[in-house]
Amino acid sequence: MKKLISLFIVAAMLAAVLVLATGCGKKTRSLADIKASGKLVVYTEAGFAPFEFVSGGKVVGVDVAICGEIAKAIGVELEIKDVNFDTILGAIKSGKCDMGAAGITITDERKEEVDFSAPYTTSKQYIVVAADNTTVSTLGTMAGLKIGVQQGTTSDFIISDAIDGTEDDDGKHVKGELEGTGATVSGYKSPNDVVPLLLSGKIDVLVTDKLPAEMIAKNNADTLKCFELFYDDGTATDESYGVAVAKGNAELLAVIDTVIAQLIADGKIDEYIVYYSNEVTADE
Ligand code: ARG
Repeated sequence: MKKLISLFIVAAMLAAVLVLATGCGKKTRSLADIKASGKLVVYTEAGFAPFEFVSGGKVVGVDVAICGEIAKAIGVELEIKDVNFDTILGAIKSGKCDMGAAGITITDERKEEVDFSAPYTTSKQYIVVAADNTTVSTLGTMAGLKIGVQQGTTSDFIISDAIDGTEDDDGKHVKGELEGTGATVSGYKSPNDVVPLLLSGKIDVLVTDKLPAEMIAKNNADTLKCFELFYDDGTATDESYGVAVAKGNAELLAVIDTVIAQLIADGKIDEYIVYYSNEVTADE
């Protein structure tokens, strides 16, 4: 009897661990599941124009347009949810959403967590500073400054690595360009949240992706300016955006890749970028 009870306890514990590991019982939805439910659930962070932003109470932008085409190809409705950027990959892994579309840079670290579509556009890291700033140029010139980034983004990783240093393959510390200079990094929900802090001087520099930086500079043309971020050795950053799905969700990924290839071939992605870059200005 005792044996039976302990066996039961072990089984219950195992089940609990399994449920936790798979994200509270939810699991990745296959293409068939998505079709049957009639909707494709996509997570994004909508403070990143022109890729995703709120206009007229709705989330719109380049990524939303791409997702609309993907939903159409599957034959379902598109449901977009605006969340914190650094929760998107976790939500994909736990099956809370089917896809992440948020100007997500394809990186080797992220590839360990999710599968990516083919790249649909490229980007670079940009610096936004006060229009009258004359001291900031390369990464190293941000020594001692207060730097704002969007939490959990590649901008965050690059600046945090520069401040904290990194480790080489042997676990040896590699000094960062900004290490020991007094430079600090603060993470925010969206790059837009840094704009008032830049204007009031509470933050000296915003680092974010190219088009969002250009958008912010354009909308604050008298007070802010932006330019590309270069390391002090003259090298630049180079990133590609992909749509993310749960690892192994190959049927869904195949549809996504077909749609993206077609959109690129038709010049649609560039069209969306021009359209949504202008819509934000028109709205403000
Ligand atoms: N490309 C950057 C990254 O993947 C920033 C993306 C931020 N996207 C957003 N929708 N807020 O880390």
